[in-house]
Amino acid sequence: MARCFVTRQLPGTALDRLAEVHEVDVWPERLPPDPDELRRRTAGARGLLSMVTDRIDGELFDGAPELEAVANCAVGYDNIDVEAAREHGVAVGNTPGVLTGATADLTFALLLSAARRLPQSAASVLEGDWVTWEPGAHLGYDVHGATLGIVGRGRIGEAVARRATGFDMEVLVHSRSCGVSLDELLERSDFVSLHCPLTPETRHLIDAGALARMKPTAILVNTARGPIVDPVALGRALHEGTIAGAALDVTDPEPLPADDPLLSAPNLLVVPHIGSASHAAREKMAELSVDNLLAALAGEPMPHAVT
Ligand code: DGY
Repeated sequence: MARCFVTRQLPGTALDRLAEVHEVDVWPERLPPDPDELRRRTAGARGLLSMVTDRIDGELFDGAPELEAVANCAVGYDNIDVEAAREHGVAVGNTPGVLTGATADLTFALLLSAARRLPQSAASVLEGDWVTWEPGAHLGYDVHGATLGIVGRGRIGEAVARRATGFDMEVLVHSRSCGVSLDELLERSDFVSLHCPLTPETRHLIDAGALARMKPTAILVNTARGPIVDPVALGRALHEGTIAGAALDVTDPEPLPADDPLLSAPNLLVVPHIGSASHAAREKMAELSVDNLLAALAGEPMPHAVT
């Protein structure tokens, strides 16, 4: 029996399977453990089930010499220093596939909401500003027939592209290995949707220069990772009308403080990192995380190992 620290309560029954075999310590609070608490609870553990909100680095591994496995309850793992894990002989796993559909659905929800100004229109009803049908009010942009630029050709990017065909959209793709150049994608797209991982190369990929290449009628959608977009440049682009709008599931930092200047930008829709937040997806993510931990602690390869 191994001691496992789970950094948040999880939906579904996956943790019951872990608790049948191992001693499970689940962080009970709504807010994640701070770095000191994370180190304290992980010291002495052989398994760690972590979230995107946990920073898993060399210092943590140094203080947890018995740690054998980290199962991140997410497909992205930019919160983990994978190189340090390798140096410390700690296996790392993630949860690919099971959140692809949910995240692609949310991407389209954001795209449609921003294009057709749903938040602004709904607010006008609640605020009593809807006094009559007006031919020139609440005008947005057509999604059908528009050009969608997808940055990143992973599972989620592909799933977004499939949804776009149902809207008769022209799809442009840019990735490291194929597709059009980023400049061409930015210049031709009515909607630019980000689906690449956060790496040193993609940090601030969408900076002032990139935003300046976009059409003034274009909308940026980010359901990948916040730091892929330079938030200062985005705020300026929205204030100056360089682009028509942005819809963000992820931000930098996360969450944005209530007084963050970006939040005062016009035509900005921000939701709280809910790409995978469907009952089914989150329960499957928990199951895959437990599968990864159980395998690693039994001395077997994780079924979803980060390589
Ligand atoms: C992921 O899985 O990487 C998401 O961002 C968290 O749901």
